[in-house]
Amino acid sequence: MMPIRGVDEECFVINYRGKLHAYVNRCRHIPMAMDWVDNQFFGERGRYLVCPTHNAYYEPATGECVAGPPDTCGKFLYRVPLTIADGIIYASPPVEDFAD
Ligand code: FES
Repeated sequence: MMPIRGVDEECFVINYRGKLHAYVNRCRHIPMAMDWVDNQFFGERGRYLVCPTHNAYYEPATGECVAGPPDTCGKFLYRVPLTIADGIIYASPPVEDFAD
């Protein structure tokens, strides 16, 4: 959980091809958590982040929705900026406001 503009938001960190990325756990189709199974964000082959509610597929490195509900494709998950210092990972709230 991370406080973002006064609300505790669940976020997640992934290691995709050796690089860390973090996003708010909020699908861009309907603002609900993407992990039906706790902490399971990747589809079966580990290529895409998947929201199983209506099968939205997101690029892990960018958070862009590349398949799924038409009104969701092209939208991006809200990125949580990460910085690493002395082996410690720090997360910051997303810079953009939530559109939904
Ligand atoms: S809520 Fe995620 S695809 Fe519909």
